Amino acid sequence: MIAIGCDHAAVELKKAVMKYLEEKQIDYIDLGTDGQTCDYPDIAEQVCRKIISGEAEKGILLCGTGIGMSIAANKIKGIRAAVCSDGFSVRYTRKHNNANVLCMGARVLGTGLALELTDIFLETEFEGGRHQQRIDKITKLES
Ligand code: RB5
Repeated sequence: MIAIGCDHAAVELKKAVMKYLEEKQIDYIDLGTDGQTCDYPDIAEQVCRKIISGEAEKGILLCGTGIGMSIAANKIKGIRAAVCSDGFSVRYTRKHNNANVLCMGARVLGTGLALELTDIFLETEFEGGRHQQRIDKITKLES
């Protein structure tokens, strides 16, 4: 299950990502916004809570730049959110950082690239091994 959310700057991109998930038969929960102006930390919180509760495995957060969403999401314990604009970064934030939230900027990326990044994010596994001890240290920083 994927939790997805956006602010008013990224409604069209969110629709495109949801359509893509439907085509790939990947279940998702849409936490808004449907178009109303909103504050991105509120949406980031809702998406991240779904991950922390175990209802969703990963999240996708979209705003104008992806940056506000990532800053907000990373305040929540257990969330490792990465704002990415290229495939290499997405691949390695999964392999090495075990990122559980992908943030993207609707004012930064074209739809085609955003869908490709979504695909990489969902398909790439965490490598574990020496990277796990680094994740453990990140987790320690939360307390
Ligand atoms: C909204 O105008 C914009 O500030 C927001 O979408 C995002 O880019 C913040 O990081």
